[in-house]
Amino acid sequence: MTCSVRGLCAAALIAMGTLWDCPTFGQVPPANYDEALIPKFTLPDPLVCADGTRVTSAEQWTARRAELLDLFATEMYGKLPACDLPVKVTRVSDGDIFDGKATRREVDLTVTKGDHQLTMTLLLYIPKSDKPVPAFVGLNFGGNHTVSDDPAITLNPNWMRPGKDERVVDNRATEASRGTAASRWPIDLAIERGYAVGTMYYGDIDPDFDDDFQNGIHPFCYGDGQTKPAADQWGSIAAWAWGLSRILDYLETEPQIDAKHVAVLGHSRLGKTSLWAGAADERFALVISNNSGCGGAALNKRVIGESVHRINTSFPHWFCDNFVKYNSNEAALTFDQHELIALMAPRPVYVASAVEDTWADPKGEYLSCVYADPVYRLLGTDGLGGDAPIVEPPAIDQPRASGRIGYHIRTGKHDITRYDWEQYLNFADRHFR
Ligand code: GCU
Repeated sequence: MTCSVRGLCAAALIAMGTLWDCPTFGQVPPANYDEALIPKFTLPDPLVCADGTRVTSAEQWTARRAELLDLFATEMYGKLPACDLPVKVTRVSDGDIFDGKATRREVDLTVTKGDHQLTMTLLLYIPKSDKPVPAFVGLNFGGNHTVSDDPAITLNPNWMRPGKDERVVDNRATEASRGTAASRWPIDLAIERGYAVGTMYYGDIDPDFDDDFQNGIHPFCYGDGQTKPAADQWGSIAAWAWGLSRILDYLETEPQIDAKHVAVLGHSRLGKTSLWAGAADERFALVISNNSGCGGAALNKRVIGESVHRINTSFPHWFCDNFVKYNSNEAALTFDQHELIALMAPRPVYVASAVEDTWADPKGEYLSCVYADPVYRLLGTDGLGGDAPIVEPPAIDQPRASGRIGYHIRTGKHDITRYDWEQYLNFADRHFR
């Protein structure tokens, strides 16, 4: 099988449930896990513009930030097409939850083009309060019904990636999948701490497989005769990030929510997504990356764990086509992920790793925070805390989060846990309250 048609790569991936080398993108070198084998590299300085000018003031950073944002959009995640997509808001259900301490609400956000409709369903929990509350928003992997076993939550009817068990049958969720991601969504904890939580199934926005962008939100923006995004236009991660911004649009209309204090969070591919959402949309007041790895917080140029070539081959739809030119060619990158973290400045940002998650390069995730620190300091904040950033990562389970950039490395594997949420809530308390 060849993959001259990109969709075939994804079809093979899904059918085999495994990673597959796609001939179009060449043979992927085996993953390196040895620090000694990292190629020599120099990281670009976020405070030096493309023309060599050094940024020395907050005013100059505004232009440099725009330059960097455009670089990430053009070369990696893809730009949003200039396209008007009005969203219709429909409240589907409202109910009391947690002994009346909170409201659970479902809201449909619907986009229409001609005969086609796309409905993205937000599940929102709001603690009862006499004043507007801050919120956490993030996408989920398996449908809103997986975040709690509450039977009142609508079972998601859309395409799902096959799971390791029988809970997804013929790419559709079954009743047995209710609550299966509850450990990743400690909503009770957030409510107790006074935060609203909003979540949406990422596949509502764009199903997570490579069909050359025929489904999901992308076709709603095609111009006459266009059949797929251009090489510098949005891939799936940028589409998912777009969806997060639509949630924020809705939250801005909801008087019970303090929309100036909304944190965006995500795990793994959805951590890459929360970072891009936070970079592209400065209304997000705090940004959290949980185990986001390659394409998220981890430095590309370290080429350890998952590489650019690997990710572009396994998931050809996540980034824009321009990103493929960096396959096994990280040296050609004129940007790296510490500059993505710097795009959040001076807003608080939190990056979290897990010890066993070597695929995501925990050290590379931490170093992105270290090398973003000078931008935070230029903007008058304390960056990673203290007088200067500490290059050595903190000890396991000892968050380094006193500054505007927070970081921890947790015991255990690739996952988002109650422990992780506790740190995010503590961080949000420090910056929001
Ligand atoms: C794969 C992929 C990662 C991604 C992860 C996930 O492991 O290689 O880049 O973060 O899936 O999203 O679960």
